[in-house]
Amino acid sequence: MAVEYDDSFEECIQRPWLAVSKMRQIDADQPKRQGQLSPDAPNEWALHDTFHYQRGHADVFRDAYRVSRHHPPKKGERLRVVDVGAGAATVAVALGEALGRDKRRRIDYVAFDPNPSMRSLGEQVLEHLDAGFGSGMYIESLEETDFHKGDRLLFSFSYVSHQQAVTLADVDRWASLIKRGIQEVGRAVELMYTTASNIHSIEPKLPMLGEKLDQAGLRRTVEPLSVHLKQRYPETGGRDGRVRWRWRNPQWQVQAERWTLRA
Ligand SMILES: C[S@@+](CC[C@H](N)C(=O)[O-])C[C@H]1O[C@@H](n2cnc3c(N)ncnc32)[C@H](O)[C@@H]1O
Repeated sequence: MAVEYDDSFEECIQRPWLAVSKMRQIDADQPKRQGQLSPDAPNEWALHDTFHYQRGHADVFRDAYRVSRHHPPKKGERLRVVDVGAGAATVAVALGEALGRDKRRRIDYVAFDPNPSMRSLGEQVLEHLDAGFGSGMYIESLEETDFHKGDRLLFSFSYVSHQQAVTLADVDRWASLIKRGIQEVGRAVELMYTTASNIHSIEPKLPMLGEKLDQAGLRRTVEPLSVHLKQRYPETGGRDGRVRWRWRNPQWQVQAERWTLRA
């Protein structure tokens, strides 16, 4: 059975967002910002972005995961998902909706986000969602990521590629993390990313990561993923306090790929 996202959304995201003063809501809602979030952004910005975009981003990742050739973890397998730029645990929501409880139990979900408000929101969402993962946690630095021999590994990057706060040093860190992961688990690993295909003013970082990994001599196969989905946003104002989702045209313009990486 899929997780109940609406309950977690109402409790952890909608309620606190509606309690933010109108002035601060307007400040968080600058149209030019378009989901750009630096580590020191005001608290309300993380809440604003999660309120407005998490539903849609989770829809996109869930569909990308479903159409990909990735095999969900079988009995006896452990799948460690390392969610980089996790926001408020968006990939956990997507996997919670894509997989049944048996498969979720075989997942260890590790989330990293440099914005402390996102981390705190994500911890609340993870707890409330109660997805039944083998384990689920946030780490404060990617260096803390633990890998276990024999585990399968999936690195996820949901709507992080166009973040201006991602530096070349971050891309180097991601490449080192992936190389270490391959060495320590002793097998090929996977990476899945989703991002907007219609942002041209910011250089996307995932292609840079791909080049770094190629230069490091890893063998990389790329599976393009095609996602066709209408956008969903929350609509507030219902008297019962329940969220209602509004479907919006046009569809998400998505670029998504799944990579397999081996030494
Ligand atoms: C558009 S949000 C996406 C959040 C979430 N993955 C989702 O799909 O809903 C971008 C996230 O990237 C994070 N971020 C910004 N710079 C980063 C960096 N250098 N490394 C990792 N994450 C970063 C931000 O804190 C923010 O939570």
